[in-house]
This record gives sequence, C-alpha cells and structure tokens, in this order.
Amino acid sequence: ALLVRQRMKSSGRWACARALVKEFEEKCGTPDARLKQIADALTVEMHAGLASEGGSKLKMLISYVDNLPTGDEEGIFYALDLGGTNFRVLRVELGGRERGVVHQEFAEASIPPALMSGSSDALFDYIAEKLAAFVADEERIYEQPAGKERELGFTFSFPVMQNSINSGTLIRWTKGFSIDDAVGQDVVVEITKALKRKGVDMRVAALVNDTIGTLAGGRHSNPDVSVAVILGTGSNAAYVERAQAIPKWHGPLPKSGEMAINMEWGNFRSSHLPLTEYDSAMDAESLNPGEQIFEKLISGMYLGEVLRRVLLRLAEETCFFGDEVPAKLKSPFILRTPEMSAMHHDTSADLKVVDDKLRSILEISHTSLKKRRVVVELCDITASRGARLAAAGIFGVLKKTGKDVVKDNGEKTIIAMDGGLFEHYTEYRKCLEKTVFELLGDTTGSSVVFQHYNDGSGIGAALLAASHSLYLEEKL
Ligand code: GLC
Repeated sequence: ALLVRQRMKSSGRWACARALVKEFEEKCGTPDARLKQIADALTVEMHAGLASEGGSKLKMLISYVDNLPTGDEEGIFYALDLGGTNFRVLRVELGGRERGVVHQEFAEASIPPALMSGSSDALFDYIAEKLAAFVADEERIYEQPAGKERELGFTFSFPVMQNSINSGTLIRWTKGFSIDDAVGQDVVVEITKALKRKGVDMRVAALVNDTIGTLAGGRHSNPDVSVAVILGTGSNAAYVERAQAIPKWHGPLPKSGEMAINMEWGNFRSSHLPLTEYDSAMDAESLNPGEQIFEKLISGMYLGEVLRRVLLRLAEETCFFGDEVPAKLKSPFILRTPEMSAMHHDTSADLKVVDDKLRSILEISHTSLKKRRVVVELCDITASRGARLAAAGIFGVLKKTGKDVVKDNGEKTIIAMDGGLFEHYTEYRKCLEKTVFELLGDTTGSSVVFQHYNDGSGIGAALLAASHSLYLEEKL
C-alpha cells in the first residue's frame, strides 16, 4: 500500500510539474500577430521619443554622430569600451581608404563586482590605471609623436544625454551597475580627471554608446549598414534617422541630413509583452525595478536568472529535484546565460551537459533523463521568447525606416550585430533571424543580412575619434 501511495504521489508531482511548465510556456507565448503588435507599439514610441525629450520610455538619444566613417580616417587612435562585465582598451591603426584598419591590439579586463556599486572615482581610476598600463606597455614599440596627444574614442554603454560628440551626462545605470554619485555627471569629465590622476596623456575625442560604435564600425566596412543591434549582457539598437524626422533636435541641420540615434530600446515596455510572474518578481528584486523591461526579457544578463526562477518554483512546488529544495537554486543570478546556452545545445543522447551543469552549478545530482529534458525545454521556452521579442524589435526599427518591404531587385538591408548572446547562443540567434524573416514575409530569407562585427563598437569608437579629431582641428 505504501508503495502504491508513493507511486501515486510521484506521478501526481510529475503531473504538477508538467502543468507548471505548460503554464509558463503559455504565458511566454509570442505568436506572430502579437509580435507585430509589439513592433507597432515600438514604432509609436520611437516617434514619441523623437518628438520631445521625455516623450516616451524610449529615450531615442541624439548621438551627435551625423557623419558615419567614410573610410578616409587615418592615424593611430585608441578606444575604451566599458559596458558589460568586461572592459577593453584598444589601439587601432587606420590606413585611410586604401588600407582600412591596418592593425589593432587590445587588452581586456573584468570589472571587479565591488566597483560596479562603489564610487565614481573608484571606477574611473581603475579604468584609467588599466589604460595607463596598456599605454606604458605599447610605448616600448610605438612612440607617440612629440606634442601630439593620444586621441580616445570612449564607448560607454549606458544611457547618456549627450551635449556634443565628446561630452554627455549619465542618465542612469543599467545592467547591474549602480554608482549613485556618477548619475548626472559628465562621464568625459570624470574619465579625463581620472586619466590626469593616473598621469595618462589622452583626450576623449568621441563619446559613444556601443550601438553607435557598432553602427560606425559596420558602416566603415559596408556602406549599406544603417542599423546596429547589441545582444549581450544588455540589449539596445541604434539606427540612422533623417534629421528632419527628429522634432526635438533644435541644432543646425547636419550636412548629411542624418543623425544616428541611440534608441535605448532596453527600456521599451508595452502591455503586449508576454510578462510572467517570474519576470515581475525578478524585476521587483532588481537594482532598477520598473526599468529596462524589454532588456530583462531578451538579454544575456537575465535569461539564465528567469530560468533559475522557474526551476526553483518546480523544486518548491513539485519536489522536482527531490524532497529538499537544492540550496544553490535559491541564489540569484547563479545560473548564467552561457551555462543555460550550453544546456540548451546539449545534443548527447543522455543529456550529459545538462547533468554536468546541474551538478557543478546547482549541486543537483542524479536527475532522470526525463527531468533533464524538462530543463532543456525550459531553456528553449525562455530563449525563444527572448529571441522572438528581439526580432519584433528589429522588425519595428525596419518599419520605422521603411525597410520592412522585401525588394524584388535583390536589395538587402545589412544589420550590424554584436554582443556575446548573439555571438555564442546559436539557438537564440537562429530563432531571432528566422523570426525577422517570418515577420517580413520573406520566404527565402534573403532581404536582411545579420552581419556580426566582432568588437565593432571599439573599432567604431576609434573611427569616430578619428573623424572627430579631424573635425575639431578644422574648427580651431
Ligand atoms: C544597456 C544600456 C545601453 C547599451 C546596452 C547594450 O541597455 O543601457 O546603453 O547599449 O545595454 O550594451
């Protein structure tokens, strides 16, 4: 009798678990019709954000980049790329139209977590120190001509209200950074002060968002690039807008008639977004509740965390991993998206990778194959929802710029892409690309090219430093 009761209990648990998974899947649903509503809502917000400052949750920030690189840029330039979990210092040698990017070197360091919520000076001092070390190292091979300052393109991937190409104040932090005294400060002033403190002789010629850098880097290698999308720790897009379609721009009309816009689409929000209780709880407990809702659905910082929350609920309500809820599973952000991706891509018959990850990260052992399959299924639901929503975002931008029609003359739209999520999470990337074509009604998948520009934002920042250093010299 006891055995029968136990069997009943376990089959009841299994039924409960299945019901929970099914419910999550339904709430994450993104049928095409819904994605089209989301894309439409995004274009409405794009218009509102361009109309007036504060007109929308979409900031539609003016980048002051009204001329993207042409290929004529020449000389040695530096870039500093601060945005996610890592930051990079680059030195790029530009050889003009004939030779393009002749040479590049970079150094990478991770940002110590304590600095992400410390003081502004501590963060910028740390960065300046790394930059100083990089420059000291290269001085052995390359000597800066006397009297000429090193010029730096600063990729700072947070929302910044720019006042010019090389100044701008931080609106707020995203992606787990929270350094209160930096908000409202001019980040170029802050980094310049830190460079002085550390004795580095450098001038910031351009301050750019990573999306703008990627747009510039992409355009440099292909003149048809007019949209850039980052899918990494965070997510965002930039594109080239007609200056006349920006009512809030009161400056002189640029010669090109165009202006690159940093959308800050991570902060997009719409009642059409498929939000679940897991998303709401994660948002409520985050450093920026109520903000970056789109980003929290689609980007690398959050996918693994949503998955963890669903697994925790399964453990608590259906004893999915045994009678005790595994302690590690209660720890926020312990399950990172690269690990989720590894489990999702597990092609072994017995789902060995899933087993390994559950053991090593969550200290959960002896799961049945059936349960491991559920884990993969949850990875798929979470990643597909993110990828399909990101696709709806791209479709919205294409709509706004009139590029949502498939041309029969073979004309293609090139989108410059970057970010670890796009680069490494193959299932996510495939789903994103497929969905964009689906929304466009492009059955052959030939109207849009998703071009990955590795480090596009850093090179783009160096290129913009180059073109704006010329510009500054001309002005003097
Ligand atoms: C966050 C930042 C944004 C950046 C994006 C990708 O959304 O706010 O500025 O472009 O992450 O790094």
